[in-house]
Amino acid sequence: MSISRRQFIKAGGAALTMGVLPYGTLRIARAASQPRTREISLVAAPGKMSLDGRESFSAWLYNGQPGGPEIRITEGEVLRVKLTNELPKPTTIHWHGVPVPNAMDGVPGVTQKAVAPGASFIYEFKAQPAGSYIYHSHQGLQLDQGLAGSLIIEPRSDPNPPDREYTLLLEDWAATDGGGPNASRRRPPMGGMMGLGMMGRGMRGRGMMGRRGMRGSGPPLEPIYDGYTVGGRAYPGIKPLMVKKGDRVRLRLCNASAITVYDLMLAGHKLTITHADANPVNPIETEVLRIAPGERYDVEFIANNPGRWLLMANESGYGESGLKVPVLYEGVRPGEAAPPVFRRGLRFVRYWDLVRPEPKPLEKGKGQGRFYRQVLSGGMHSSFWTINGYVYPQAEVLAAPLGERVRLSYLNRSPMPHPMHLHGHFFRVANPNLPQELWISKDTVIVEHMERVDIEFVADNPGRWIHHCHNLYHMEAGMANLVEVKA
Ligand code: C2O
Ligand code: CU
Repeated sequence: MSISRRQFIKAGGAALTMGVLPYGTLRIARAASQPRTREISLVAAPGKMSLDGRESFSAWLYNGQPGGPEIRITEGEVLRVKLTNELPKPTTIHWHGVPVPNAMDGVPGVTQKAVAPGASFIYEFKAQPAGSYIYHSHQGLQLDQGLAGSLIIEPRSDPNPPDREYTLLLEDWAATDGGGPNASRRRPPMGGMMGLGMMGRGMRGRGMMGRRGMRGSGPPLEPIYDGYTVGGRAYPGIKPLMVKKGDRVRLRLCNASAITVYDLMLAGHKLTITHADANPVNPIETEVLRIAPGERYDVEFIANNPGRWLLMANESGYGESGLKVPVLYEGVRPGEAAPPVFRRGLRFVRYWDLVRPEPKPLEKGKGQGRFYRQVLSGGMHSSFWTINGYVYPQAEVLAAPLGERVRLSYLNRSPMPHPMHLHGHFFRVANPNLPQELWISKDTVIVEHMERVDIEFVADNPGRWIHHCHNLYHMEAGMANLVEVKA
């Protein structure tokens, strides 16, 4: 695999050279510069999932594979995916983070009609820019049933390739009672954060306990997550990540979980963040990495501490999550791996610590720009989650004239963090500590409790785009609206 990759990089270099040749070679040059198309087939169908020896439960999977097949493609190639729907329900695929043309974005009722059971649909778009992405169903709660995978767009040439690279697709599973959205419920709607007395008053009887929310007037409530996988496998049944002393190892962390925000630590090593949501950042070391649903981070570590170690996650705010992956040095006998210690006062990198490696001034945009305040609420006296008080689809449509600069200013007045995600665009995360040209680009940003976070982007991708919290249950309970980019 690494050989064919090297060959392809060589071919890419040749095409580049041909581009500057004189007219006589135009025919060849054109053929060479014609982007290669990669065809992939994804079949969404019911399947079985089992978490390392535990009773299996039903899941919906792509190509029968928990964690989905990983899609790898080189930047600039065309990705053509035939989705075949063998589910009993309509479905779609969303290419999370990739700024695809609107019609390829895979949001039912917004960018396409959902693909009916038995039908198929072809997605086709240019794979760019390079980076770590996720693909997942955007229909209802299907992501939570297992319909997700990783999409890696490799750069045409990597100036600084690591010695080893692993993709870690993180997923949370509700494995009891048949699994998925039908599993037993988490105490609504705030998990372990509050007593029942307060809940009782707040919920006014609507979908208060158990599953009533599914059928009653309220939105579906979160199930109880009791299983965690990396690439579809749960600890201890997961293969250790093998490293050799001296290796520089890259991990592509992609959080495809429905609701879980992880605080990740690797015992015996420090992680250096190099990319956030496919965009490069100035490499920065961190003891703990917080990653929310929809976020991706590329991190690296130097294998300079031979032994057996655990990469492990706490669930932000709840303690140990159960997400674990052993890291094993070559030549070290397999066995119990040392866990990291989540002691108090660990150093945490926040967005404000991340700096763009190459300064890039904000694009001016035409017109005088748009400013939208986005107040995030819910969780207290309602089982709905809202933006500016609206419950999607009865929600605002934010007008973003083509070419204008748009600022969304989030204020989170709810008790939970919200990973807010915008389709079709990367945005800059406004950082009061840095000059604008150093603000990083992302497509998903956590807004913590009582925090204000501003993002800015130029509306350069025409169409109606959904903008929502990537906690699947918050989205399904209304925390979404639309951004409409038109000339
Ligand atoms: Cu991961 Cu609306 O998307
Ligand atoms: Cu949310």
